[in-house]
Amino acid sequence: MSKLWGGRFRQGLDESAKLMSYSLDVDCQLAGYDLLVNRAHARALMVKGVLTEDEFGKIEACLADLDQGFDTDLDAFLGDDEDIHSCVERLVTERLGDLGKKMHTGKSRNDQVVTDVRLFCKDACDAIEGQLLALMESLYQMAVTHINVPFPGFTHMQTAQPVLFSHHLLAYFEMLKRDVGRIHHAFEEADVCPLGSAALAGNNYGLDRYLIAGELGFSQITQNSMDAVADRDFMLELLFANSVIMTHLSRLSEELILWSSPIVNFIAIGDNFTTGSSIMPQKKNPDIAELTRGKAGRVLGALTALQHIIKGLPLTYNRDLQEDKVLLFDSVETVLISLECMAKMLPTITLNRQVIDDQIKTGYSLATELADYLVKKGVPFREAHDITGNVVLDAIDQKLGLEKLSLDYLRSIDARFEADVFESLTVDAAISAKDLVGGTATRQVQSQLDRIKETFKW
Ligand code: ARG
Repeated sequence: MSKLWGGRFRQGLDESAKLMSYSLDVDCQLAGYDLLVNRAHARALMVKGVLTEDEFGKIEACLADLDQGFDTDLDAFLGDDEDIHSCVERLVTERLGDLGKKMHTGKSRNDQVVTDVRLFCKDACDAIEGQLLALMESLYQMAVTHINVPFPGFTHMQTAQPVLFSHHLLAYFEMLKRDVGRIHHAFEEADVCPLGSAALAGNNYGLDRYLIAGELGFSQITQNSMDAVADRDFMLELLFANSVIMTHLSRLSEELILWSSPIVNFIAIGDNFTTGSSIMPQKKNPDIAELTRGKAGRVLGALTALQHIIKGLPLTYNRDLQEDKVLLFDSVETVLISLECMAKMLPTITLNRQVIDDQIKTGYSLATELADYLVKKGVPFREAHDITGNVVLDAIDQKLGLEKLSLDYLRSIDARFEADVFESLTVDAAISAKDLVGGTATRQVQSQLDRIKETFKW
C-alpha cells in the first residue's frame, strides 16, 4: 500500500528522515489499543450510515483476527510502516481491499494516537496501583514482624531519638498511600475520550462520541477538539505521579544501601537481591537498591523532558508530540519493575539487632528524655535543654552512656535530678512516651497497623 499521505508528494522520504520519523518500533506497544479504537470508530461510522452493517461486520472480524495474530506474534505483522496506525490500516486494507480504505473516514491519526495513549495510561495506572499495593503490603507485613524492634531515628544523619523500626517502615507506607492517590488522579485525567476530534477541528460525520467513548470504556469525552489533539497534560500527570513514586523508592533504596554497608551494618539484604563482584570475593552489593535509585533519575527526567517538549508547541498537533511515547513507556515500565523488586526484596532483609541496639546507645539518643525528665520536675524546657547539654558533654568526655552516669554526679549538676531519672533513660521508656497519634509508641504503631489491616483486609 502506498504511504498514508502519498498523494501530494513526488519524492519519497530520505532514509535519514525515515529513521528520524518512523516510530513503529516504539508505538507498536499501542497495537491492541489501536484495534479497539478502529473498531469503535468504525461502529460509529456504521451508526451514521457511512459504513453498511455488512461492511462494519467485515472490519470488526478483521480487527478481531489481527488482535489474535498480534497476541501470538506481533513482530510478524509489522512492516515498513511509519507508525502503528499506518500499520493497522495497511493490514486491514491488505485483507479487505477497498473497504480497508474506508476505515479512516472522519478520523485522523491525531485523535487516534491520543486515544490509544489515553487507553494505555489508564491500564498503566491500574497496573501501577497493583504494584503499589503489593509494596505497601510488603511494608505492612515487615512492620508487623518487627513491631517492637527499636531503631535509631536520624535527623541530619545524626542519631536523634529511638523509634520503632515498624514506625520507620510505615513512614514509607504513608508515602505510597499518597502515591496511590496521585495515580488515581492520573487515571481520571486520562479517562476522557478525544476520538471524533479528527485532525483538529472535529469531523463532518456527526459521529456519536458518547457511543465511541462508551465502547472504549471512557467515562467522559473531551470538549474542545483542538485541545483534545494537542493536550498531553494527562500524560504529565502520570509522569509526575511516577516521578514521585520513584523519589520515594529512591529514598528507601538509599537507606537500604546505607544500612547494608559494612560501615553501618544494620541489615543484610537477601542473596537473591544482591550481587557479587567479579574481582572482590567478599563483596555483596545492593545492586537492586542502587538501580532503583539510579532509575529514579530516568523517571524524573521523563517528566521534565515531556514538559519541555510541550511548552513550545503552538496549537494543535505537532510532530514533536510523537516523542511523548518513548518517555511514557519507559517511565511506566521502570516504575512497575522497581515497585515489584522492592516489594520482593523487603522480605529478604534480616536485621542485625545487636548493631542496631549499640547504635541507639552510643548515639546519646536518650538525651531529649533527660531534658523531658527535668521538664516534668518543673524546669522550663530551654533551661532543661542546657543542663542536659552539659551532662551529654561530660558523658562524652567520660565515654559513658547517659544511663551509666551516677545519681551523685547528676545531682551535682542539678539538684532536681532524683533516683527515678533512670526510669526515663531506657529506650523502651523513650519510645512508649511518644504516645500520641502519629507517635512511635508501640500502642500507636499497633493501632496504625490495625487501621491498615481494616482498610486493606490483609
Ligand atoms: N506517529 C504519530 C505520533 O505518534 C501519530 C500522529 C501523526 N500525525 C501526523 N499528522 N503526522 O504522534
